[in-house]
Amino acid sequence: MTNARVTVHTEAGIDRIAPEMHGHFSEHLGRCIYDGIWHSDEDKEVGFREDVVSLLADLEMPVLRWPGGCFADDYHWEDGIGPREERPRRRNLFWAQDTHEVPEESNAFGTDEFLELCEHIGTEPYLAVNVGSGDPQEAADWVEYCNYDGETELANRRRENGREDPYGVRYWGLGNENWGCGGQMTPEQYAREYRRFATYVGSMDNLMLDHDLELIACGFENHKWNRRFMEEVGSTGWGVEFPLDHLTLHHYYGRTMSVAEADEDQYDRFLAEALEIDDHIERISAAIDAVATTRDIGVIIDEWGAWHPESVPENGLEQPGTVLDALSAAAVLDVFNHHSDVMTMSNIAQTVNVLQCLVETDGDDAWARPTYRVFDLYAPHKDNEAVQTSVDTPVRKLDDDGELPLVGASASINDDEIYVTLTNLDCRESHTIDVTLEGTTPDTENVDAKVLFANRDVDTEVDTDNADEFEAENLEIAIDDGILTVELASSTVAGIAIR
Ligand code: AHR
Repeated sequence: MTNARVTVHTEAGIDRIAPEMHGHFSEHLGRCIYDGIWHSDEDKEVGFREDVVSLLADLEMPVLRWPGGCFADDYHWEDGIGPREERPRRRNLFWAQDTHEVPEESNAFGTDEFLELCEHIGTEPYLAVNVGSGDPQEAADWVEYCNYDGETELANRRRENGREDPYGVRYWGLGNENWGCGGQMTPEQYAREYRRFATYVGSMDNLMLDHDLELIACGFENHKWNRRFMEEVGSTGWGVEFPLDHLTLHHYYGRTMSVAEADEDQYDRFLAEALEIDDHIERISAAIDAVATTRDIGVIIDEWGAWHPESVPENGLEQPGTVLDALSAAAVLDVFNHHSDVMTMSNIAQTVNVLQCLVETDGDDAWARPTYRVFDLYAPHKDNEAVQTSVDTPVRKLDDDGELPLVGASASINDDEIYVTLTNLDCRESHTIDVTLEGTTPDTENVDAKVLFANRDVDTEVDTDNADEFEAENLEIAIDDGILTVELASSTVAGIAIR
């Protein structure tokens, strides 16, 4: 097989990789919150699951989105504050929850619990407000409860509930998938709702709050919809100065690829589908730029990841965690690095037990899935300057006319090192990759390399007994005349640090 060649253009900076690009998402769905982050109603213990919290803290996640998802537009935040025994039990319109698979919400885990978790694990909260079935007053009240430092009834309620200082929540999402589960709105309708909500949530900025708020609107994988939303939202007297800091979309892939039954051709199509995120980022950016030519609006992908047919509402969207899914996450994180000039955040779905979770629990056990290892390996990119890479890779033609580039890469730099990540997305064969770093002639003394998943089958399911076998291992690198050469086994991911 011909070598793949990667050239890192160390002087061709793209932009800073916002640490928030490695963000996460947790919803009141299945066993994500109850039996995931918080003990199940059935457990004798009440409160956080320390085993999960400790795994999440080690991950140094920069931002966590909550409480949904579709649940966000069905959630009334005041149900989830105050003494736990007085909180109302409600229907969860979208999802069965906890281990009982009953679509009900106990409200045991609410705003103060979520924000305490975020502080404890050192992550920024991102709250999604209820636009679909809520109103702007409720949303503005939530901001006041969380962030206001004065003597109002809501600020004092927060104090009575045990929290003296404002939390300073910066990220506020106005709704979730409002083109679908969040109210089935047309772009024009959502733009009107967005303007109403943003007026009351966002106009408090700088007047009564100590912290700047960043307001986030929901977009769609239908880019005509995004364009119409952008045109409408800025069509009043406020024009493009309207409070809108980020526009999001969601990208799930693998809906037709059963983990249990798939073959190698389907793995190829699955990975190619993951890489379609590249096109979506370009198209949503184009929709923003076409309308908001004089200001920066960031692109957020606030739900993404593998969603296989195994995940159904009846099982709380649970599916096996495999190396294949982890490989797709590496490929997507490389794409995000290439778009660091427009992207401001991403949130993989979901943190614990649901969809492409990073942490899984079973009874008293909690463990890291292979995707967790990918986030660890990619962590050195956070806060670096992304630089251009050229990848000359073999490409596999797929039977649906698509194609899969078999080798991928991205690179970033800081004052002390260059960090390069490489993927071999080929589930059949290994590839030899030559890496040239423009302007640098590394030698073995100043290069460290790690690899994930060498000698692991791509479809191995990970559980508490084998989870440790997926940790990163040292990778051998040959260096000749400043060119690094690595042999990457099939379905592996490498991280190379050059000091
Ligand atoms: O993550 C599961 C669901 O997928 C979310 O609730 C919704 O936003 C998306 O459709």
